[in-house]
Amino acid sequence: MTDTAHRPHEPANMQWGGRFAGGPSAIMRDINASIGFDHRLWRQDIQGSRAHAAMLARIGLLTPEDEHAIATGLEAIAEEIETGRFAFDIALEDIHMNIEARLTNRIGEAGKRLHTARSRNDQVATDFRLWVRDAIDGLTAQLSDTMLALARRAAAHAGDPMPGFTHLQTAQPVTFGHHMLAYVEMLDRDRGRLADCRKRLNACPLGSAALAGTSFPIDRAMTAAALGFDGPTANSLDAVSDRDFALEFLSAAAIGAVHLSRLAEEIVIWCSAPYRFIRLSDAFTTGSSIMPQKRNPDAAELVRAKTGRVTGALVALLTVMKGLPLAYAKDMQEDKEPVFDAAGAWALSLAATAGMVRDMTPDTERMRAFAGSGFATATDLADWLVRVLRLPFRDAHHVTGRLVALAESLGLDLAGLSLAEMQAVEAGITDDVFSVLTVDASVASRTSYGGTAPANVTGQAERWLAVLA
Ligand code: ARG
Repeated sequence: MTDTAHRPHEPANMQWGGRFAGGPSAIMRDINASIGFDHRLWRQDIQGSRAHAAMLARIGLLTPEDEHAIATGLEAIAEEIETGRFAFDIALEDIHMNIEARLTNRIGEAGKRLHTARSRNDQVATDFRLWVRDAIDGLTAQLSDTMLALARRAAAHAGDPMPGFTHLQTAQPVTFGHHMLAYVEMLDRDRGRLADCRKRLNACPLGSAALAGTSFPIDRAMTAAALGFDGPTANSLDAVSDRDFALEFLSAAAIGAVHLSRLAEEIVIWCSAPYRFIRLSDAFTTGSSIMPQKRNPDAAELVRAKTGRVTGALVALLTVMKGLPLAYAKDMQEDKEPVFDAAGAWALSLAATAGMVRDMTPDTERMRAFAGSGFATATDLADWLVRVLRLPFRDAHHVTGRLVALAESLGLDLAGLSLAEMQAVEAGITDDVFSVLTVDASVASRTSYGGTAPANVTGQAERWLAVLA
């Protein structure tokens, strides 16, 4: 980035320097400039300018020659930026003025006509919406891909039991496939939030000008359509000062990142030596510089950690927007970095998550063995007492509790108790009770809609694969 010092005999700023005699102080320039980060909006800025120029030509505010010069000039600038030959200038503050100045520099007079009937306020609002819309589309595709990886795992492990936890204490056996599908549901809601955000985002602010609209007979429907928006925004004040679309995007990102952090945490736990439910390959682990035996799940830990910056971005932008009077204020220039950062962190986290889900090797035997420990089928026993002996559930719960205590004192599993030992607690118990105490019987019995029974899980996995694959 070149750092052009201000020359006293030239206007301080070619774009707005008419009334300014002196240039900005270096500190003013530094705090004011956004080119260091908003250069990422260059594609959207060029897209917006081309649509605007085409519209100005259509209504006769630009000659066809000028419009042609602008379009080809902008195309050439896109090429310069793409190939790294564009000299961004901090003195020109932002991407909008950098591109406009370069256009005038390339094509002369016609370039100076481009900013008719628009302002940087509607320009940046338009560019930023386009950028967020692209980010939404990219992230939605990544969410779908991650869901696909999870759904494939679910289909493959629909019948493999693992311990289900509440409070991270053994609760009831579930299947590994069921566990995978829980995240498919979560990620689907993340997609839904993005789709919802996209719907409201998809109105075009261009032509709202600085805040009041314009006296020129512009065709806002034309620019909106050219940029793929559903239509123009209805209130110029709102259009230049609204950043709801960014806040909604960040809210969706924060929730999405929290979801990924929960899976990441489970991956960390499952990889740990006491669990060893899954193994990650060299592709998604690192070693320790001192402990040769280590295989650390760094990717999962970083997915877990990136949530901090994503939720931070949401809080940052909410705080920037809070209390801002209408319409535009320069505070709003602080909207971009949190969004860029959160979108990048979410995208990388999704890539890492999909990668780990595809990479991991589940140890199904070990999961199955653990699924039966910790009296995991105690609820099945209580349900049996209700179903077969017609005990009220509260009494069945109490009887089962006594049987668990007995087994625990004898160092046995529930299935290890003899029938006589069980009958000493509840006389009505028969041999049939043992049929519900195995892990496989337990998961197979959970056939209620949404339950963990392998047949259910297979059905759900197939439903998802049909949508995603
Ligand atoms: N760089 C500015 C931003 O990102 C563009 C809009 C500037 N508008 C203005 N009135 N100074 O917010």
